Order: sequence, then C-alpha cells, then structure tokens
Amino acid sequence: MHQHHRALGLAVAPLGTRSGADIARLRPAQPVTLLRPHAARRAARFFVEKFPGRSLYAVKANPSPDLLQILWDAGVTHYDVASIGEVRLVSTTLPEATLCFMHPVKAEEAIAEAYFDHGVRTFSLDTLEELEKIVGATSTDGVAATDLNLLVRIRVSSDHAKLSLASKFGAQPDEVKALLFAARQAADGLGICFHVGSQAMTPAAYSEAMSRVRDAIIEAAVTVDIVDVGGGFPSAYPGMEPPALENYFSVIHAAFEALPISYSAELWCEPGRALCAEYASLIVRVEKRRGDELYINDGAYGALFDAAHIGWRYPVQLLREPESNTRPAEFSFYGPTCDDLDHMAGPFELPADVRAGDYIEVGMLGAYGCAMRTGFNGFGVVNSEIVDDEPMASLYAEVEAPARSNVVKL
Ligand SMILES: Cc1ncc(COP(=O)(O)O)c(C=O)c1O
Repeated sequence: MHQHHRALGLAVAPLGTRSGADIARLRPAQPVTLLRPHAARRAARFFVEKFPGRSLYAVKANPSPDLLQILWDAGVTHYDVASIGEVRLVSTTLPEATLCFMHPVKAEEAIAEAYFDHGVRTFSLDTLEELEKIVGATSTDGVAATDLNLLVRIRVSSDHAKLSLASKFGAQPDEVKALLFAARQAADGLGICFHVGSQAMTPAAYSEAMSRVRDAIIEAAVTVDIVDVGGGFPSAYPGMEPPALENYFSVIHAAFEALPISYSAELWCEPGRALCAEYASLIVRVEKRRGDELYINDGAYGALFDAAHIGWRYPVQLLREPESNTRPAEFSFYGPTCDDLDHMAGPFELPADVRAGDYIEVGMLGAYGCAMRTGFNGFGVVNSEIVDDEPMASLYAEVEAPARSNVVKL
C-alpha cells in the first residue's frame, strides 16, 4: 500500500520521498510539472497483467519519450499511433516496439512512410476509400502487400463517456458489411475496432459496443482475427469516480468470449488516459486574487486545456507552510495569457484564505494535460521534476484518506 499524507498544507511525506511540497518550498517562478514514473509503471503493470488480452498505449494522451520508455520497461510492447509524427517518435524512442496506425483518415504519404520506413503493418480504416488508399500506398510495383492487419472502425455510442468520440469516426451499421468483406480480401489479419468515448464511466459502454461487434461479424460472415475495444478506460477526477477497472476487464472478457470468433481471435485495447493520467501533476503559483478568481501562471494554452474548454475538473491542493486552517471555498482560475478564454471555471476547492504567492498543485494532468501545452503569448516554459509521492488520486493504489473533499480516494 502506498502511504501518503495530504492534509491542507504541505504533505508530510514518508522518509526519503520527494514530493510536490518539496518543490513548492523552492518557490519556483514558473510552473513545474511533477512526474511520477512509479505511477505510470504501476498503471502499465496493471493493464499488462490484468487486461485479458493485449494492451496498446495510445500515444496521443502523452507522447513524452520518458513515459514511452517507462511503459516499454513495464511490458507495453504495442503502441497506437495516430500521425506520422507519432510513428517517427515511437520508432526512434522504442525501435523494437510494434506500431499500429489507428487514425482512420491518414495521408497516403504517411501510410507509405509508416509501412516502408518504420515497419508498420497495422492500420485502421472506416471507409472503402481509406482501404483503397492503404492498399495503394503499401503496394510495391503494383503488387499489393500481403502482410497487412486491417482494423475496421465501427461507430458506437459515447453515451457512457464524459468525452464523446461518436461523431467523427466509425463506419455506420449499414456500411460495415461491405467494408469488412472488402478489407478481408486485402488483409492478412482482419480486425474490428471501436472507441466508446473517453472517460467511460461504466463497463456497460463496452458490453454495448461489443454487441455491435457481434452483429457486424454475424452479418458480414467473415473471420475476424482481432477485436480491439479501444481506449476510454477512466481515471479518477473530482465528481468522476469510476468503478474498479477489474469490472471493465471482466465485462469485456465475457463479451469477447461470447463472440463466435473468440476461439481464434486476439483481444486488444488501446488505453491512453488510464495509463498516464496519474503520471503527472502541475505546480502553479497564484499571481493575483480577485474575489473568488485566482490568476495562476498556467492555463488554457498550457496544461489546462480541458479544464478551460470542456470544464474538466482536476483535483487541487494548496501547498503552503504552515498549512492553512481556514474552511474550504470554491474558486475559478484565470491562466497567464491576455485572453479571456484562458479561464477555468472549476469550481476548484481550496482554503478560503488562498492568496497571491501561494502554490497550488493541480493533479491528474498526465493525460491530455501536459501533452496540450503551447507557447502562446510567451508562456509555456515549464520545468519538470521527478517526485515519488502518490498522485492525488489513483485507480491502482490504495491511498490514504485525504482531509479534502476534492481529492478522490477510491
Ligand atoms: C483510436 C484511439 N484509441 C485510443 C484512444 C485513447 O483514448 P483514452 O485516452 O480515452 O483511453 C483514442 C483517443 O482519442 C483514440 O482516438
């Protein structure tokens, strides 16, 4: 069990532990990203050991080379890449890794480079046009490749997810039969994939999607070699406390076993968020307070894109010594740029006496947080520090009950 103490003020970390509080004590003038390799390693081991199939990492969630190496060392051998930039990054960082190009709309040049220069053999698609493009771009002197894994992405509902992925990609039910049939002719391995939306709050998201897979297989009457249940596995945020991941795994396993092709097919998943959310958090400084609005030195154009644009709530804690004893109050944040849109509504719960000069740790920013940072308006310079205290919430560790209402304990 990973013990830690998180009362309102600075954490009293176990001996030898380096924590966010230690970094705040140095009074950094710029935001600091706190990296927790042990948390990423633990998440990866969990998926590698407990998911009843193969776990790919969806690189877009956080493409940090250090993180890629941690996941590789923990046993993640396959990577979901969605652009030629990600293909190049992973093949340089992890030359032995297997890459799967899972964006259903790709440039022909990207497919050709991935196939011929980086050894990518697995591609997803959701139209006949994309199938033709993949076949064309991977042919040699007019002769089609015979070693392709082609995964047909089907559209499924995002009803159970906090972030929809149901509009942009995925073949409709009346298109799937022809697509599976055509892809079968071109593929060495044929797969079906889907994405239930990010931060799926119930395992039912997967059982419902798997019944669409079942319908598709039966209707097309083709042999399917791979079923890829995508990403969507949740992490823990204030107001979003999901069931244990084991529940998701057992629902997926049961649905997979019930498919007519399960005896010969492989089961895959492609988590992004669940593998890296706990990997990073951020220390910001309060530059100004105006009522219940705090002007902090990172924001919508930094690691807090989702907090600004989709109202995502991250856990926060005040890092002050001695700790504040005032009651909690609700705050919103303004980021550092001159843009009104650089606003995070929250609400973020902090001691009522928070003031300029205070440091705040914003937790759970390892997925779609650090990866979104820009240099807009001259901001965006951030230092990173490795710490070994616990993340502010965890689906993988039993953490000690914090004395805060906006820090999640599971
Ligand atoms: C094809 C694909 N796979 C996996 C993921 C990762 O999803 P999540 O971070 O919700 O696990 C995404 C996210 O957009 C995706 O588009």
